[in-house]
Amino acid sequence: MKHVITIDGPSGSGKGTIAKLLARKLGYSYLDTGALYRAVAWQTDQHKIDIENEKALDDMLKKIHITFENEQILVDGQDISSEIRTAEISELSSRVSAKPSVRSALFDIQRKLCLQGRVVIEGRDTGTTICPESENKFYLDASVEERARRRFKELKINNPEMTMDKTIDDIRSRDLRDSSRESSPLRKTDDMIYVDSTGMEIDYVVTHIFDRLK
Ligand code: DC
Repeated sequence: MKHVITIDGPSGSGKGTIAKLLARKLGYSYLDTGALYRAVAWQTDQHKIDIENEKALDDMLKKIHITFENEQILVDGQDISSEIRTAEISELSSRVSAKPSVRSALFDIQRKLCLQGRVVIEGRDTGTTICPESENKFYLDASVEERARRRFKELKINNPEMTMDKTIDDIRSRDLRDSSRESSPLRKTDDMIYVDSTGMEIDYVVTHIFDRLK
């Protein structure tokens, strides 16, 4: 699997921006796996589904139709790209992503893209579970404060009531949940190249990763 680049890391580490730019530079496609979990969270919110109700969650997972079109994400044909970028959906997506039924429902769509190759795929388990055979695995990190600063900038556009302190708290609780869940937790393995992007310019990080590709 030579043409698959995986980038895992916590929220706000810059994975999305870096993966997109790297894909553009290489002429590869790009998959934001977090958007899939956000789409599922959005759907549970729309239909007022209690995520602890396994039967209701399973029924919804059987019916949901998620597609990508020009870097936009669609659920049953509706573009929800900006609606999934709220603090509420961030929190809900982290909770639904701990459910094994959700992870297995989203596995095939991710695995299929990974097998097609020529793709940069980013998330929490892309190098461990989705494309473990990839020869180019990265773990992107940054300090909690810097990650919160980046998230806050995005969040306050749609959430004027958001504060920096609340953003830091949200990030900390998401980090804990995403890395301590039983099913495919976020973790750095020995075959991943660790990149700390704290204080680094985006272009520098892209070049840094590009130069390390096998
Ligand atoms: O990367 P993000 O913040 O958009 O991801 C939203 C949530 O989805 C995150 O809190 C955890 C979950 N997620 C996951 O469990 N596995 C992935 N590969 C990607 C995201």
